[in-house]
Amino acid sequence: PPPPPPGPLADQSAKLVHDAAHPYEPLKPGDQRGPCPALNTLASHGYLPRNGIATPVQIVNAVQEGFNLENSFARFLVYSTFLVNGNPVTNLMSIGDKTSLTGQDPPKPATVAGLDTHNNCEGDTSMTRADAYFGDNHSFNETRFQNLVKFSKKYGAGKYNYTVAAQYRKFLIEDSIQNNPQFTLVSPRLFTAFAESVFPVNFFIDGRDTSGQLDLDVARSFFQNMTFPPNFHRRNGSVSNVGQDVVTDLMPNFRPGYNAHGVNSYVPDPTSATLTEPCVRYVNFVNRNIKSLYPNPTGVLKEALKINLQYLYEATVAAGDGCTQVFPYGK
Ligand code: HEM
Ligand code: MG
Repeated sequence: PPPPPPGPLADQSAKLVHDAAHPYEPLKPGDQRGPCPALNTLASHGYLPRNGIATPVQIVNAVQEGFNLENSFARFLVYSTFLVNGNPVTNLMSIGDKTSLTGQDPPKPATVAGLDTHNNCEGDTSMTRADAYFGDNHSFNETRFQNLVKFSKKYGAGKYNYTVAAQYRKFLIEDSIQNNPQFTLVSPRLFTAFAESVFPVNFFIDGRDTSGQLDLDVARSFFQNMTFPPNFHRRNGSVSNVGQDVVTDLMPNFRPGYNAHGVNSYVPDPTSATLTEPCVRYVNFVNRNIKSLYPNPTGVLKEALKINLQYLYEATVAAGDGCTQVFPYGK
C-alpha cells in the first residue's frame, strides 16, 4: 500500500539548497518537465528523481527540503494532483507529460497523464505559460514572461512582489476573458491560480533576503531555466500562500466562472467552490473529479485510491479546515 506522507521538517531554518550534493544537470532524452517551475527545478537538481517521475512522498519531501513549503499545504497539493494525474497502483506521477514510465494505466476513463493535464491543477491564467486553448499549457512562454517583467517594472520598481502579483493576476484574468473563448477559472484550478501568484515571492527569493522583492533574473532562473541561482538558500521557516489576500483584495468582485459562449462572455459558476470554501473544494473534488475518473474501481486500484483519499482528507484536517470526510468507495 502507498506509504503515508512525511510530517513537517524538524529544522525549518534557511539553508543552502543549491549545494554540492544537488548540482544542476541538463535534461536527458525522455526526462519530464512541466508547468511547475518549482518541481522542474527540484528535478533538475536531484531533489526529485531527475527523470521527473516521482512518488507523492518524494514530492512532499522535495518541496519541503528545497523550498520550505508548509506540510499540510504540500500534502493537499500533492495528493489532489496525484489522484488525478498519477498512477495509484504504481504510485508514480509525471511532473510533465503522459509517459509509459508511470507504468500500466488503470482502466479508462482514468487518464494518468501527468501535471500537463489541463483543468485540474493546471489551468488558465498562468503567469509564464499560455492557456491550453492556445496549444501549449506547460512550456515557458517568453511573451508571458515579458508581461510579468512589464508589470514588475510598472508596479514593483523592477521587482516582483505582492503588489505586482495582484496587478498581474487581475490582468491575466481580464486577458483570458478577452482572448480565450474556452477560458475557465473554477475549483480546483481557482485555488492554485491565486496561490501561485504569491509563490514566487514566498519561495523564489533567497532565504537570507527578507525584502519581499524578487529579482527578475532570479525569476527567469526558476521559470525558464529550472535552476537554483548560485548559492541559493531556501526561505527561513515554512509557509504556504501568505500574501494571497493582497491579490484577492484587488478583485473583491471576482467570482469563479468561465466564458460561456466565446470571448467576453464570462459568467460565474455557482457550483464551483470559492476561495473561502475549502470544504466545498474538497468534497466536490472527491465526488466529482475523482469519481468521474474512477467510477467503479476494484481490487488493488480501489484500495490505493481509498488510501490516497485518506491522505488527502488528513491534509485538510492538518490545515484546520474542519471538513466532513466523504467516502466515494466505502470506508
Ligand atoms: C504552477 C510554484 C509546488 C504543481 C506553479 C507556478 C508557480 C509554482 C509559481 C505558476 C507557474 C506560472 O504561472 O507560470 C510552486 C512552488 C512550490 C510548488 C514554489 C513549492 C514550494 C507544487 C506542487 C505541485 C505543483 C507540490 C503538485 C504536486 C503545479 C502545477 C502547476 C504549477 C500542476 C501548473 C498550474 C498552472 O499554472 O496552470 N507552481 N509550486 N506545484 N504547480 Fe507548482
Ligand atoms: Mg496553466
